[in-house]
Amino acid sequence: MKDLVKGKRIVVTGSSSGIGWETARILTEQGAEVLGVDLNKNFDHVEEFYRADLGDQATIDALVDVLPDNIDGLVNNAGLPPTKPANQLLKVNLIGLKQLTYGLIPKLADGASIVNVASLAGHGWPKAVDAINAADHLTYSNVDDFIERWSVSSEGGRSYFFSKEALIVWTMQNRWTWRDRNIRMNAVSPGPVDTPILPDFIQTLGDRAKEDRDTMDRPGTPQDIAPVIMFLLSDMTHWIRGFNIQADGGMASNLTCRAHGL
Ligand SMILES: NC(=O)c1ccc[n+]([C@@H]2O[C@H](COP(=O)([O-])OP(=O)(O)OC[C@H]3O[C@@H](n4cnc5c(N)ncnc54)[C@H](O)[C@@H]3O)[C@@H](O)[C@H]2O)c1
Repeated sequence: MKDLVKGKRIVVTGSSSGIGWETARILTEQGAEVLGVDLNKNFDHVEEFYRADLGDQATIDALVDVLPDNIDGLVNNAGLPPTKPANQLLKVNLIGLKQLTYGLIPKLADGASIVNVASLAGHGWPKAVDAINAADHLTYSNVDDFIERWSVSSEGGRSYFFSKEALIVWTMQNRWTWRDRNIRMNAVSPGPVDTPILPDFIQTLGDRAKEDRDTMDRPGTPQDIAPVIMFLLSDMTHWIRGFNIQADGGMASNLTCRAHGL
């Protein structure tokens, strides 16, 4: 398939490593203009690079100001792994992600595509609906109270799981938000992927990771995920809205089958 994203201007956060790096690489290879954003400087496969801390309110405002107009795609991929402090993690994986998205809406071209990189870790969202609803009011200033009130500390990786559960739900909730401009939002949920943060997940999950390994033929690679992100950015997917594509070697289906005794 050729020219899926040719000529499109696409912002990729977390472009300096792992899934974001590979996404920038294939988008550039396919003729897109990639604007990379990351905390760590890396100019690989990007037309322009913006160094920014996506967990910091003022920095995100400044980033929104300097990014150009007519953006055809936004890939919200930057994320912190489960062993990071919960308040820092929620600021990057959820609060900052939403702030950047809302800030960039006026700069998106009509017909633009927003892709959120969630996770298999968000699969259990139906059990967290109350906390997810409460997270509508989650801000930089009340994050510590929120963590305590809803028990989403880093213990057992809960803050990470919660950030991804809330992201999947936010994606569904925004299925029609910008329909008047034909702007869509979808998510991709990778299973365990071989990137620098994989050991962090294994450490956090402990015995649960061993269970996963028993049901999984191999960990994914960034090359398994980036094409799915590119597909959602392409003009082939205008009628896919609010959907979460599970790119995980069948692990989410395995969980669903087990949960329903299938
Ligand atoms: N690797 C996995 O097993 C896996 C599984 C499911 C989902 N994911 C998700 O995929 C996304 C990418 O992860 P990855 O595996 O490629 O990890 P990675 O660590 O290789 O890449 C993450 C990138 O995000 C950047 N980043 C982190 N905090 C930032 C901040 N405050 N501001 C700006 N940039 C920041 C990092 O510098 C890094 O370049 C994350 O959202 C992660 O939760 C990863």
